[in-house]
Amino acid sequence: MKSLRTLLGTWVVALFAASCTFDGDRYPQSSVHPTSDFAEMIHGLYVDIFWWTLGILVVVWAVLAYILVRFRARPDQPIPKQIHGHMGLEIGWTVLPALIVVAITIPTIQAVFSTQTANLEESLVIDVIGHQYWWEFRYPDTGMVTANEVHIPVGQQVSFRLSSADVIHSFWVPMLGGKRDANPVRVRPEGLDPEYNWIHLTANETGTFWGQCAEFCGDSHSLMGFRVVVESPEEFDAWQAQLAEPVVAPEVAAAEGDSIATPVQVADVDPLVEEGRTIFHQQTCVACHAIQGTNAQGEIAPNLTLLGQRSSIAAGWLENTPENLERWITAPQDIKPGVLMPGVNVAGGNWPATNLTEDQVRAVAAYLYSLR
Ligand code: CUA
Repeated sequence: MKSLRTLLGTWVVALFAASCTFDGDRYPQSSVHPTSDFAEMIHGLYVDIFWWTLGILVVVWAVLAYILVRFRARPDQPIPKQIHGHMGLEIGWTVLPALIVVAITIPTIQAVFSTQTANLEESLVIDVIGHQYWWEFRYPDTGMVTANEVHIPVGQQVSFRLSSADVIHSFWVPMLGGKRDANPVRVRPEGLDPEYNWIHLTANETGTFWGQCAEFCGDSHSLMGFRVVVESPEEFDAWQAQLAEPVVAPEVAAAEGDSIATPVQVADVDPLVEEGRTIFHQQTCVACHAIQGTNAQGEIAPNLTLLGQRSSIAAGWLENTPENLERWITAPQDIKPGVLMPGVNVAGGNWPATNLTEDQVRAVAAYLYSLR
């Protein structure tokens, strides 16, 4: 009895403590802290079902407790009257649960359909493409591309069009919405458009929200994260403009007779950055990666435009610092098993190893970090 009391006490205290500290800053992947219309709807369903199940639990426990006390074994007590087949009870406990299931089903089906429909004319459409093990984001209206950190404006409906470049992934931002599969685009009979899964949502709070791949997709599935930056419409427009025109000036490169025709960071004359820039744009990096406004136009690896602005690298897995960039460039497989990016002296996927020295790696990291 004492241990039962302790257990119940601990449970109540834990529940109370949890309810006090479920804030998004401490638990960036909390699914009970909705910050979009989509997440609020799912959370509403969750709360409704919680109360229904709590009600059932209370009734069952109350009846159980009554029976345990009322019919407990006593020395001079005969066995109570035995009952078989009580028509009223039988009907009651068949019909009542059926009604509860209906009461839960109706709002659930309504939510399922309402989250699948949106007026795309009024929506900001963003293509989300899952890759092993990173996320690509394309804005079809402006042609802008980014990776692993998507920006959206607060208060505006956004429609994520989900697909995959390889296997099935699942797009999930616990505080904003999801999770829905990102499938390789299915080939359809002639005349029919490809089918996509969609997530339509309107974020109602600014901030940076954590996302996670939620479908097992290979060695580094658990390391396939991303960030959603929700900002004011003005900040969002400014970011889009900056993506379109990174802080570089091609005429400077031309004036210097730069044979590889890559723009120069005007604001940054750090020789280490300059060295890194030269290495990056002469090495095989440019075969896979793109940086807007330069000769790097590869499309099979994450787009690195404004990389220095991102809060994380390696698909949400490492904080974005020059030191972590060096670690990543040197040995990505040590951080993310199965990643296709080659490292220093280690091939990756079909790509040959890079043979950069430690100093060269530092220079490339400094260059990438300067892209802001
Ligand atoms: Cu992608 Cu799991």
